[in-house]
Amino acid sequence: MMSSATAIGNWKHTVLYLNLILSLLYFIESLISHKLHINHNNVRVKRSPNLPLRFRDDGTFKILQVADMHFGMGTITRCRDVLDSEFENCSDLNTTRFLRRMIEAERPDLIAFTGDNIFGSSTTDAAESLLEAIGPAIEYGIPWAAILGNHDQESTLNREELMTFLSLMDFSVSQINPPEEDGTKGGTVKSIDGFGNYQLRVHGAPGSVLSNSTVFDLFFLDSGDREIVQGRRTYGWIKDSQLRWLQHTSKHDHNQRIPDNPPALAFFHIPIPEVRDLWYTPFIGQFQEGVACSVVQSGVLQTFMSMGNVKAAFIGHDHVNDFCGNLKGVWFCYGGGFGYHAYGRPNWHRRARVIEAKLGKGRDTWTGIEFIKTWKRLDDQDLSKIDEQVLWETSDTFLKG
Ligand SMILES: *[C@@H]1O[C@H](CO)[C@@H](O)[C@H](O)[C@H]1NC(C)=O
Ligand SMILES: *[C@@H]1O[C@H](CO)[C@@H](O)[C@H](O)[C@H]1NC(C)=O
Ligand SMILES: *[C@@H]1O[C@H](CO)[C@@H](O)[C@H](O)[C@H]1NC(C)=O
Repeated sequence: MMSSATAIGNWKHTVLYLNLILSLLYFIESLISHKLHINHNNVRVKRSPNLPLRFRDDGTFKILQVADMHFGMGTITRCRDVLDSEFENCSDLNTTRFLRRMIEAERPDLIAFTGDNIFGSSTTDAAESLLEAIGPAIEYGIPWAAILGNHDQESTLNREELMTFLSLMDFSVSQINPPEEDGTKGGTVKSIDGFGNYQLRVHGAPGSVLSNSTVFDLFFLDSGDREIVQGRRTYGWIKDSQLRWLQHTSKHDHNQRIPDNPPALAFFHIPIPEVRDLWYTPFIGQFQEGVACSVVQSGVLQTFMSMGNVKAAFIGHDHVNDFCGNLKGVWFCYGGGFGYHAYGRPNWHRRARVIEAKLGKGRDTWTGIEFIKTWKRLDDQDLSKIDEQVLWETSDTFLKG
């Protein structure tokens, strides 16, 4: 048994020891507190845009489509297919500069990045590359939506991780996939293929009769990357589960105040096989390369037709095609290659597409959409505006009034 004297002695030791430890901790804390403070300041939540998206007071809503940026690692990533005289001073920063110029010129309400946003094999850090590529949208605080192409996942993040990251970036309205209930209601869709399938609803102008209603629907779809079908290498395609989700979403909207589904647009990366048929039609813009798409024909056009409200689809992937053509009442429009690290043609300017919807004017209020227009701008000295055309006009004479 321990004597009480020894016990007190031990206890004094313990107190001294504890004191020493506490002073040491205090000392260490004072040394690193500066650093801790900095880290603390870095913890912040995503800056979100004002939602829902809505038309402006002047009755317009403008979307900038940015197709195939193919961003790498910034300054050190060289341009492809530019003139020899341009090569020396050309890098990813030219892509960034073009994006800033487009934002300044058009002041879009939404930017749609339609895939191959980064060129995976030219970057050692997909997240860094995306932050820099999308950067200007965030700088200007413009809501933006992204989907994936076939090259985005060739770096350090897989497709699910990419869409997660994209959905968490500042001012992003991108979503990984629709909420579960959308997919399962009615027992039709259990799960959805791919990452980056979502719907954005745009409300009418502030203070108008339709200010709390969806007057414009935007669908974003994952067209995949590459697949092997019966031993044959081919591109990805939009799967049945995605088409069932689209159909379902369109039925869902019937409960709204406006009797019919509002006009809708679709955005995805890889064209559908029917786009080839446009060669034999009076398309607007340039058709300079073969349509690179999947061997699988999955019924995307039939789905759009049965939905009735999809007026146009915006695609990328083939950089030197920039035309719009009409397939059975639905326009298919290429964005045209945007990025300088992407293949293109020397002397054929990088370009971007703009889509503008305008509301009709009722007696004393903005109503639903009267027309949807599109044009492109070239990255030349004047940002030349070309190929302006009307994609859709309402047949409702009241809206036209
Ligand atoms: C590239 O930029 C540097 C520095 O601005 C300039 O001195 C050089 O002449 C430029 N080269 C070309 C080919 O434009
Ligand atoms: C790339 O950007 C540099 C500097 O901003 C500019 O001088 C050059 O003309 C641009 N090159 C092309 C091909 O646009
Ligand atoms: C829209 O919703 C707001 C807020 O709930 C309400 O104050 C406003 O009256 C509504 N406007 C219309 C046209 O229904």
